[in-house]
Amino acid sequence: MRHWSVDSFAPEQTQSVGELLGRLLVPPAVVLLVGDLGAGKTCLVKGLARGFGISEQEPVTSPTFTLLNIYAGRSPLFHFDLYRLSQEEDLLDLGFDEYLQAEGVTVVEWADRIAGLEAQTGDLVVHLRHAGDDRRQIAFEARQERAAQWLDRLASAWLERGSRK
Ligand SMILES: Nc1ncnc2c1ncn2[C@@H]1O[C@H](COP(=O)(O)OP(=O)(O)OP(=O)(O)O)[C@@H](O)[C@H]1O
Ligand SMILES: [Mg+2]
Repeated sequence: MRHWSVDSFAPEQTQSVGELLGRLLVPPAVVLLVGDLGAGKTCLVKGLARGFGISEQEPVTSPTFTLLNIYAGRSPLFHFDLYRLSQEEDLLDLGFDEYLQAEGVTVVEWADRIAGLEAQTGDLVVHLRHAGDDRRQIAFEARQERAAQWLDRLASAWLERGSRK
């Protein structure tokens, strides 16, 4: 499927969605995250990192000041947070374009901070929205066939998880 969305009612649920996604992502993959402050982007990435094989010992936090954290999972996980991005030069310094083609998984919080990024790249685009108190709507968009298969699997895994509870 090209579009799938889910409502999360607690941070743990958002993390679980991320974990299920992290388990099934096949590198190279670029996941763009868009959503306001506190929408749950980092929470989703924490789960994704666990699902992708990054050890519990390794803290996964927003790389707010450095813009990029790198974790060792099944293959590298590049975690960008562009909130504090000031100039395009910063990104060039980081070699951002190369990470978009890297043999790993690249996740980008605040992807909308770069004009046109969503239009140019990303296998999966995830929009997270506040939907009252602890509720968040998490909407996934697959950009090509391979990513659409991930969404099929993610939706089934989520249903299966629900039926086990
Ligand atoms: N259903 C939910 N899913 C995710 N987070 C939730 C949910 N309900 C409440 N929260 C709270 O919302 C906050 C989400 O924080 P998080 O750092 O993941 O957001 P973010 O989108 O990365 O924000 P920022 O842009 O500020 O980094 C946390 O404090 C978390 O406890
Ligand atoms: Mg964050």
